[in-house]
Amino acid sequence: MRGSVKRSLTLCFLLGSACAYFGSPLFVSGRGQSGAKNPLSKWRPARDYSGVGYAGAAACAQCHAKESRTQAATPMAHAAEAGAACEVLKSRAPLTFTNGAYTYRITREGERAVYTVGDGVSTISEPVLFCFGQGVAGQTYIFQHRGAYYESRVSYFQESKGLDITILHPRGVPASLEDALGRPMSREATQGCFNCHTTAAVGDSRQQFERASPGVSCEACHGPGERHVAAMRAKDLSDPKIFDPTGLGAIELSQEFCGACHQSFDTVMSLGGQGGAANIRFQPYRIYNSRGHLVDDPRMSCVACHDPHEELRHDAAYYDSKCLACHLSTAGELKTRARSAPACPVATKQCATCHMPKVELPEMHYRFTDHWIRIVKPGDAVPR
Ligand code: HEC
Ligand code: HEC
Ligand code: HEC
Ligand code: HEC
Ligand code: HEC
Ligand code: HEC
Ligand code: HEC
Repeated sequence: MRGSVKRSLTLCFLLGSACAYFGSPLFVSGRGQSGAKNPLSKWRPARDYSGVGYAGAAACAQCHAKESRTQAATPMAHAAEAGAACEVLKSRAPLTFTNGAYTYRITREGERAVYTVGDGVSTISEPVLFCFGQGVAGQTYIFQHRGAYYESRVSYFQESKGLDITILHPRGVPASLEDALGRPMSREATQGCFNCHTTAAVGDSRQQFERASPGVSCEACHGPGERHVAAMRAKDLSDPKIFDPTGLGAIELSQEFCGACHQSFDTVMSLGGQGGAANIRFQPYRIYNSRGHLVDDPRMSCVACHDPHEELRHDAAYYDSKCLACHLSTAGELKTRARSAPACPVATKQCATCHMPKVELPEMHYRFTDHWIRIVKPGDAVPR
């Protein structure tokens, strides 16, 4: 891990002042926006923006039919669901799990979903308020118990289509029924979950979980849209009054914008480098470490390979053109100013299958795509 941290810092240095900028208030101001005029010019995901109301994704759909149709079907849009509406539980409940003397049951009762833990003598039951995660890898349950928000000790995992211990929870047999239930979350932790998995959880400098709409929808990325909707309805095009990330540079877009939830290089470093396998999940950090791949190049930004309004493409061939925007296809091909990166001596297609390998994260029971683009030699350890 030490080596990679050193290397990252070297890269950081090579990129000049970019790293020092992260986190500085200067960096937060949007580019390409008329700063003074647009009240949302400093908007970033998961930040509070007081004083402007949310309109809801249904309002956006009236005028932006294309983005709305496809975005609503993405896992991001379903990153959280109300317990009653949760698709995994509708199709899979009852779910059961046993750990020592403790039994877990997640059931649907009428329109409610209920999380129950028993120790053979007594039981605790609480209604599931929110299902967190679409279930691509897994899904965790949030409920209230004695006035606090809890994260369930067991989660659903897609691989086994059943329950197992939640990532980062102790795998041993719980000490008590209360302990078996899950983890009471601090205010900060609760806020974190809601900021990254729901829309409009913060407003007017306070949390408003009850009013949060589950999932990452339009206004989680574009900021509250009430004024935009009003202006557009009034056909006032003088100022769109909404945040348009198109104006962001590649580093900002990847590291700060998508990185607000997918974890930027800076966040990972501030958590002590997050050594260990878990940082496979943090794509902005992994890309940052890829030798030769300068993150200030728009061809390396998240939106170069992913349209945030559409479902993730799983066919490796789709990404070939993204690599070949910089790399030559064959060694014989003529270099141009734009395409000057070396050709592969091994293959001409399916680049990602070899250079962005899938890496299993055992606790998540899922194979994540390593965004640390590199030559993978058999037996090499995954860089951290
Ligand atoms: C009444 C129709 C209408 C509604 C409702 C509406 N929009 Fe728009 N939106 C427009 C039009 C028209 C433009 C183009 C404005 C321009 O080019 O100046 C636009 C532009 C945008 C832009 C680009 C802004 C820019 O600076 O170019 C974004 C992002 C956007 N809308 C998002 C949203 C979101 C999110 C919602 C829901 C909160 C929403 N819109 C609701 C009509 C609408
Ligand atoms: C407000 C938080 C937030 C922001 C901002 C955000 N994401 Fe996400 N994203 C999530 C969450 C949460 C998930 C997990 C969804 C799930 O599976 O439950 C996710 C999942 C994804 C996925 C995986 C979808 C799949 O099929 O597994 C992709 C790709 C993705 N995001 C790309 C992006 C890109 C590109 C950006 C920046 C333009 C971005 N995200 C910004 C929260 C966010
Ligand atoms: C900093 C933003 C952030 C915070 C805070 C956060 N998540 Fe996530 N979460 C994500 C992103 C991004 C993904 C998708 C990529 C991944 O799996 O790492 C995700 C994925 C998940 C998944 C797997 C989704 C799937 O479809 O497989 C679950 C479950 C989950 N989060 C639950 C939670 C819970 C519960 C909390 C609060 C204790 C929480 N998350 C806090 C950003 C966040
Ligand atoms: C995960 C973050 C994310 C979500 C969710 C999201 N967008 Fe976007 N949106 C972006 C980014 C990033 C861009 C800029 C894309 C680019 O630079 O290629 C963008 C661009 C746009 C534009 C085009 C602006 C232009 O100038 O062409 C419109 C319109 C828009 N989004 C509307 C919506 C609507 C409507 C929704 C909800 C259905 C939505 N977006 C959900 C991140 C998001
Ligand atoms: C050069 C292309 C490329 C770039 C740039 C890129 N990705 Fe990916 N991403 C991929 C590929 C390839 C996959 C795997 C698709 C598959 O096989 O399902 C993927 C998968 C993902 C997933 C799904 C989870 C997983 O591990 O499979 C998420 C989330 C994601 N990318 C987020 C991001 C974010 C955030 C950024 C910007 C920091 C980004 N990506 C930049 C190519 C790219
Ligand atoms: C923005 C341009 C750009 C894009 C997009 C890009 N690369 Fe690269 N890549 C480079 C450059 C520049 C180098 C460094 C070449 C050198 O100096 O050796 C490099 C290096 C590499 C290396 C060698 C790394 C090492 O450690 O020696 C591999 C492998 C690679 N790229 C694969 C890919 C794949 C696969 C994709 C698509 C998923 C991709 N690249 C996308 C520009 C790019
Ligand atoms: C079957 C697996 C595989 C596929 C598919 C593949 N590569 Fe490679 N690539 C390798 C291996 C192995 C090496 C290291 C070769 C060596 O060192 O002799 C390599 C080397 C490279 C290098 C370093 C070349 C240099 O001169 O430093 C680049 C760049 C690269 N690949 C890019 C790509 C691109 C772009 C694609 C898609 C067009 C691609 N690769 C497809 C396995 C693959």
